Amino acid sequence: MPLVSSKELLIKAQEEGYAIGAFNANNMECVQAVIETAEEERAPVILQVSQGAIAYAGLEFATMLVKTAAELATVPVVLHLDHGTDFDQNVRCLRAGFTSLMYDGSDKPLEENIQVSAKIAEIAHACDIPVETELGKIPKIEDFQAMLPAGYDYSVKLPKEVQDKVDDLMADPDQAEEFVARTHCDSLAAAVGSVHGMKRDVQPLRIDRLVAVRERTGVPIVLHGASGVIKSREDADRMGIELAGNEGTVQDAIKAGISKINVATEVSMAFLRGMKQAFEKDPGQKDMRKILLPGKKEVKETVRAFMRLFECSGKAGAAMGAAGLRESAIKHHE
Ligand code: G3H
Ligand code: 13P
Ligand code: ZN
Repeated sequence: MPLVSSKELLIKAQEEGYAIGAFNANNMECVQAVIETAEEERAPVILQVSQGAIAYAGLEFATMLVKTAAELATVPVVLHLDHGTDFDQNVRCLRAGFTSLMYDGSDKPLEENIQVSAKIAEIAHACDIPVETELGKIPKIEDFQAMLPAGYDYSVKLPKEVQDKVDDLMADPDQAEEFVARTHCDSLAAAVGSVHGMKRDVQPLRIDRLVAVRERTGVPIVLHGASGVIKSREDADRMGIELAGNEGTVQDAIKAGISKINVATEVSMAFLRGMKQAFEKDPGQKDMRKILLPGKKEVKETVRAFMRLFECSGKAGAAMGAAGLRESAIKHHE
């Protein structure tokens, strides 16, 4: 079926208390893995094109991969721009047929972030396409490289001085209200304690901050950097991580109203793990597809676990209704 907008999908998720997974479109195998899993789980899904994917595959290839996947799919698929860098890139993606945009002005002074976000929202809304913006800064783990102990293996919480920096970068609920009112954005990536690019899920979220931002804005809130966030309280207990009263996990964030969750690193690591195991088992293999396929299978199981965690499995029908599509209208595809 044709690509759908993220607007109604996220509002439906917000109303019904689940989150939609957003996974990166890095290559054909990953796109197929995400779509096949979404079909099997009957889950709505967002495939997003990151800055790294644009540099690696090129915007045209990345776009066509997702469009082709959506055409063949019987679940709602959104083509989203991840961490759009500027106005021009957003316009290029609008023209290329993206059904969801993002401007990440978190490195810019607040006023510039507001002005550019608002300009992008104005042009995107003229085409009925929604825009995600970012407030506060969701950092990358690499930003703190110099502050991490040598050989930090991600198996324990971040050192206090790094956590203090993460806290300083969080979204301010007072600013959030004005930010959303002035930008007219459709969803907000609010910095609430996650860090991009972590190899293990040991990071707690500030649920109090998330609730305050949600209450002050009303728009669907987006969680970035989910690879590094503790998934459940059971996981926290198992890892011996104590959560403060205002801290929580991915599951807590969903209960607190997160509507879209971005995962990249854990999926990338799953692909590499599958390929590594296949190559170690059969180092003389000459057919690259025999190594790529186990990578794709690992991605499928990782994506499936996330969809179930996000409680979006089985929500394709509800999301299609929200997007103005009826299950019956696409039955002939099946
Ligand atoms: O927000 C982080 C991105 O998903 C990372 O992806 O390395 O492909 O830019 P990238
Ligand atoms: P991770 O790579 O940390 O999962 O972050 C993904 C993300 O936020 C993409 O925008
Ligand atoms: Zn991100």
